[in-house]
Amino acid sequence: MTNAADRRQALLAEYENIKSRQLNLDLTRGKPATAQLDLSNALDGILNGDYRCADGTDARNYGGGLGIPEARQFAADYLETHPSQVMVGGNSSLQIMYQYVANAMLNGLQGAESAWQNEAKGSERIKFLCPAPGYDRHFSICEALNIEMIPVRMNEQGPNMDEVEQLLSQDPLIKGIWCVPKYANPNGVVYADEVVDRFARLGTIAGANFRIMWDNAYAEHHLSDEPPQLANLLELSDKYGTLDNAIVIGSTSKITFAGAGMAFVASSEANIKQFAEYLGISTIGPDKVNQLRHVRFLKDMTGLRALMQEHRKILQPKFELVLKHLREGLSGKTINNKALGSWTEPAGGYFILFDTQPGLAGRVVELCAAAGVKLTPAGSTWPYKKDPANTNIRLAPSFPSLKEIDEAMQVFVLCVELATLEASESAGN
Ligand SMILES: Cc1ncc(COP(=O)(O)O)c(C=O)c1O
Repeated sequence: MTNAADRRQALLAEYENIKSRQLNLDLTRGKPATAQLDLSNALDGILNGDYRCADGTDARNYGGGLGIPEARQFAADYLETHPSQVMVGGNSSLQIMYQYVANAMLNGLQGAESAWQNEAKGSERIKFLCPAPGYDRHFSICEALNIEMIPVRMNEQGPNMDEVEQLLSQDPLIKGIWCVPKYANPNGVVYADEVVDRFARLGTIAGANFRIMWDNAYAEHHLSDEPPQLANLLELSDKYGTLDNAIVIGSTSKITFAGAGMAFVASSEANIKQFAEYLGISTIGPDKVNQLRHVRFLKDMTGLRALMQEHRKILQPKFELVLKHLREGLSGKTINNKALGSWTEPAGGYFILFDTQPGLAGRVVELCAAAGVKLTPAGSTWPYKKDPANTNIRLAPSFPSLKEIDEAMQVFVLCVELATLEASESAGN
């Protein structure tokens, strides 16, 4: 037997041994751990019978479609803009994004005649650019609304802007682009200043009906002492006269309680007013009690940043443990003179992206699943779940315990090597 065959036999024996332990581990979704949620338990009861907002309104009653003033101020500080350009909505930024795109598609952003769907004739479809790998739930919104997705390559600076600009200049049916500009889900990229500047000018190429869906979900979710600075899209767009094209979104889902926080959106005042009117058809106002208790709890950006440091204390050891396994298990190892994989070392956010040798992500996920370690399905970080090179695997270490991560990563590293050896052997190497 060759050395490779020996090694594969040894790994297989180890793999079978792991299987017999019937593990049940999960590295799939980027959920906060229970200890992180506990950091915000003081939200419960914080109002203590005082429901008055800063402007004297009673948070318990209907109304306030744009959000309560103190929450709008808080969100404006978070999104680095003015309160007049902010709406604070319900519990989910994803819902805001869905509602915004559905509104543009069906009702129009500047009157009914501007509805995106009117522009697609016959079998044509409205299209979105999707920097990939990206966030699977953005892509699900497009699928649900029959919007065609065009993947755009990501590099270390952000999306490939030459490609973005070229596609936009050629195709007026492209009406939007998804972005996670800071600590991107899943590759941790922070868009470079030049990239953000080019984004701010896209409206001059694409026209008034185009929207940049700037999902800044991880704006304050740092894992380093000197966090990188993201350029301010709203400020730059204002400078270039393209503010209507920029839709900036965020939420406190990974700050306080996931799915029970407040979500916000910022753009031009006209856009925000139009969107609030649209939402006003389906609700007589957001949950203002929750907004009030959030502002009383978080107070301001100083309060929020102190809380994020506590999150970091819980998250950082988990990220470090994943990286330790990758380094110790895979660094320097080659099969067919090629590294077994590469991975990101993000300065913030919730994910580490691993790349296998070409064509192997699906097999690694399958091997892990059979050994009791659930990973995000291969391909799910791409539009239509089709990763053209079949290399991306998203690792989400936030929810499991350190012990669980330790066990899961042993299995992961083993499966990467096993899948690579398998492929090499079946290719006759
Ligand atoms: C990039 C991104 N945007 C939005 C969300 C969901 O946010 P929310 O809970 O506010 O809907 C997530 C959650 O994982 C995310 O990764």
